[in-house]
Amino acid sequence: MRTSTLVPFFIFFVALTITNGDSTTYEESDALLRWKASLRNVSMSLQTSWRTASQSNDSFDSSIQPQPNRRTSPCKWFGIACNGGGSVTIINLTKSGLQGTLGEFQFSSFPNLEYLDLSMNSIFGTIPPEISSLSKLAYLDLSTNQLSGKIPMEMGNLSNLVELYMGTNNLTNSIPSTFGSLEKLRVLSILQNNLSGPMPISLYDLKNLTHIHLQRNQLSGPISPRIGRLKSLVCLEVWENQLNGSFPTSIGDLSNLEILYIRDNKFNGSIPESIQNLKKLTVLRLARNYFIGQLPQNICHHGLLKNFTANGNSLVGPIPRSLKNCTSLYRVRLDGNNLTGNISEDFGIYPDLDYINLSDNKFYGEISPIWASSKKLQTFQIARNNISGVIPPEIGNLSRLSVLDFSSNLLVGDIPKEFGKLTSLIKLYLQDNQLSGGVPEELKSLTELETLDLSSNQLSKYIPGSLGINLLQLYYLNLSNNRLNGEIPMELGKLGHLSVLDLSYNYLSGSISAELGALQSLLTLNLSHNNLSGGIPSTFDELRGLLYVDISYNQLSGPLPNNPAFLNAPIEALEGNKGLCGNITGLALCKTKSDDQNKVKFVYIVIYPILGALLIVVFVIYIFLRVRKKSQHVQTGEIEMVNEKPLLSISNFNGKKLYKEIIKATEDFDEAYCIGRGGIGSVYRAELPSEAVVAVKKLDGENRTFQKEFLNEVRALTKIRHRNIVKFHGFCSHWRHSFLIYEFLEKGSLCSILSNEWEAQELDWSKRVNIIRGVADGLAYMHFDTFPPIAHRDISSKNILLNSDYEACISDFGTAKLLEQDSSNWTAIAGTFGYIAPELAYTMKVTEKCDVYSFGVLAIEVIKGQHPGDLALCLSSSPSTRAGIMREDLLDHRLPPPPQETLDLLIDILKISVACLQENPQCRPTMKNVSQKLSNISLRIPKAGSKG
Ligand SMILES: *[C@@H]1O[C@H](CO)[C@@H](O)[C@H](O)[C@H]1NC(C)=O
Ligand SMILES: *[C@@H]1O[C@H](CO)[C@@H](O)[C@H](O)[C@H]1NC(C)=O
Ligand SMILES: *[C@@H]1O[C@H](CO)[C@@H](O)[C@H](O)[C@H]1NC(C)=O
Ligand SMILES: *[C@@H]1O[C@H](CO)[C@@H](O)[C@H](O)[C@H]1NC(C)=O
Ligand SMILES: *[C@@H]1O[C@H](CO)[C@@H](O)[C@H](O)[C@H]1NC(C)=O
Repeated sequence: MRTSTLVPFFIFFVALTITNGDSTTYEESDALLRWKASLRNVSMSLQTSWRTASQSNDSFDSSIQPQPNRRTSPCKWFGIACNGGGSVTIINLTKSGLQGTLGEFQFSSFPNLEYLDLSMNSIFGTIPPEISSLSKLAYLDLSTNQLSGKIPMEMGNLSNLVELYMGTNNLTNSIPSTFGSLEKLRVLSILQNNLSGPMPISLYDLKNLTHIHLQRNQLSGPISPRIGRLKSLVCLEVWENQLNGSFPTSIGDLSNLEILYIRDNKFNGSIPESIQNLKKLTVLRLARNYFIGQLPQNICHHGLLKNFTANGNSLVGPIPRSLKNCTSLYRVRLDGNNLTGNISEDFGIYPDLDYINLSDNKFYGEISPIWASSKKLQTFQIARNNISGVIPPEIGNLSRLSVLDFSSNLLVGDIPKEFGKLTSLIKLYLQDNQLSGGVPEELKSLTELETLDLSSNQLSKYIPGSLGINLLQLYYLNLSNNRLNGEIPMELGKLGHLSVLDLSYNYLSGSISAELGALQSLLTLNLSHNNLSGGIPSTFDELRGLLYVDISYNQLSGPLPNNPAFLNAPIEALEGNKGLCGNITGLALCKTKSDDQNKVKFVYIVIYPILGALLIVVFVIYIFLRVRKKSQHVQTGEIEMVNEKPLLSISNFNGKKLYKEIIKATEDFDEAYCIGRGGIGSVYRAELPSEAVVAVKKLDGENRTFQKEFLNEVRALTKIRHRNIVKFHGFCSHWRHSFLIYEFLEKGSLCSILSNEWEAQELDWSKRVNIIRGVADGLAYMHFDTFPPIAHRDISSKNILLNSDYEACISDFGTAKLLEQDSSNWTAIAGTFGYIAPELAYTMKVTEKCDVYSFGVLAIEVIKGQHPGDLALCLSSSPSTRAGIMREDLLDHRLPPPPQETLDLLIDILKISVACLQENPQCRPTMKNVSQKLSNISLRIPKAGSKG
């Protein structure tokens, strides 16, 4: 009964809405199709769903224009939703593979749009001011695209906007002051752009704001005391900007604030006491500003504080009282201040604490056994303070601990044998204390350990051999400057990952065991200042990676091993022994029997008289030089005492001196000397006093994976020398800095040259051919002339550097891999997006053919003047598309068109490059092959070049 009365009404309603909705719907679908047609790429779901009725059987062709005759409502299209009237209210195209601009998006066609999400695509270009015609828009998300230019001030007219996300783009200029009109705004998120200027004062009128995310921009100026008006604010994130001035006390008025995250700015003055009024505060991160004065005593008054960091300021005074029973704590960093006080009883039990760093302050007192009750602790650092007393054995109960650093304090007593229970430990630093007793045998249970530094203590007894059998992850072992005696256990030879072994300045005796020759990863070996005797085992010939060795001041005798690190060692690293011999200035030549027998007569008759005279001359000169060298050495030695001992390995230079020179030349790695950033660190230009200019790559932070990449790079680089591979001068691994030193190449990276209009014009066709050939030669060398072969795995225009003659050098070996025959060569994916071979998407097997693919992309990029993008895919696929694309699209338009003979040559190179892009790695040519073909081609380069 009921339904029958409802039916006519229902039909009437539907009819009405369709007729009414007609014009908007069709206008909307037309607008959507027109925008789609302007895009370079869209996802498959959008491609198949966004179409008119007439298109529904067509193949995917984005160029088809909307056909007015057979129009369709867009309401069921992918990512679209409508209101009851059939008008679009939601456009949700997050992660839809969109590539293109908003230029053809006709905003005025969507009068009812409330929700627009285009996040996580590749939309570039500017944000059109017309976006302001979306008068009903409440939610706008454009984050994670490539939008650039300034934010249009017209956006201030989006008066219904509640949430605004534009983070992770390349927007510039300042935040428009018109944003002060967005009265309903709750979320303002424009993090990670290039915004500059101050935060507009009008922002502080937006009383409903709950979240401000403006981190990672270049914002400057102060935060206004008006911030106290934003009573709804829950989260204020402005970290990594240039904000300055003192932080306003009115912050204490924000009773809803949970997150105050302002690290890495330039705020000065003291931390406002009013922070302790913030009842809901859980995250307080103030690190690396210029704050002075004391920490507020009641900072955890309300018992919710979890993340608290104030490291890298100039704070003084004691640990805040309220931290003692702040059981909510999760992560605490107060390192790098001038905090003082006796910390024996300042801390309580923290059931959730994961990380605490109190290093580099002036704390004294003892380490309390109560720390053992914070069961979840993973990182515990109190290095470089004045902590005294013994290490409580209870610390051994912190079973989750992975980093323990108590170094450079005044600790005494034994290393607790309970440390054997710390089975998750990865780094243990106890160096530079006054610890005594032996190295506990129990440490053998720390099977995850990678770094063990017990140097500069008063440890005695012998080194437990069990460490070598069990600590198979160890890559850094430093027991130097102790009183250890007995022999070096031969079991240490089993430490296959060990890169650094320092046992210097102890009382070790006996001979060096041949087993140590099995330390395949060893880069640095220091056995100096002990009592070792006998010969150096010939197995040391096999230490191929060894760069730095010091065996001075022992009782060693016999010939040096046939190993470059020994044969190139400065005499200081060998002197003070009993009878070492070898072909090195300062050492006696080793005797060989055949010489003796054959030449006896000759020697008696001719050589001896001459030699007698010569010897006297040589001896006098030698003494003279030795005296001079010693006096120089003493001078540098005095300066070195000022610094901490860097752990050093330099092949040709005087290491410690060079370390200091580099720190000085870059003013301790000041930004001003930074010339680029790579995957694992920044590169600096350093002009040394000798006027040599070198490039120095410094590792970021203390990340362990980076440390591995660093050693990886060292390992790869020490194996290779080629004119098209950047020359490696040495490296330094030190707790403050780890860095690599290379030859400096004046012209910088190929990528930066190609992206600069003027410089790209300098790079004429013959130079470009030469660059391609150079890269091919370098790669062919790595794949075929080194053993084991090396795959670079990250060939891209960023990693090709040019010298003043535009000669190409391959750089950045952080992801390089030695392709060992019997090991599996399966690994995590590495490389630069756009250059990675397609097979790496489904298999992780590394072969040198991955480099061949990247080379193909690179070669086309050099000729085209920009990354080929999807063109690379087309080129490797069907021959018909290929034919259409060739030539015009593939030549850099910034250069004058090449004359015919150059053109022929470029086309030959393009053909080779395209062959490198074959999907099946087996079908790609080898680099040797490519390099030979290119060398034939470059013979044909016209002499005059083709620069216009
Ligand atoms: C937008 O799409 C994403 C993924 O397709 C989905 O998770 C989200 O809930 C959608 N949002 C709306 C408002 O429909
Ligand atoms: C961002 O814009 C700046 C200047 O407009 C430009 O130099 C830079 O290359 C852009 N960065 C990206 C990632 O597009
Ligand atoms: C601000 O939020 C409150 C509470 O949610 C709401 O009632 C009020 O309408 C909002 N103000 C504006 C201008 O939207
Ligand atoms: C708090 O610290 C934890 C652990 O480092 C981290 O995962 C989380 O993101 C932090 N929260 C904030 C807001 O910093
Ligand atoms: C410790 O907590 C109790 C109760 O939560 C509180 O009353 C006391 O003031 C706190 N002590 C300190 C030193 O903060």
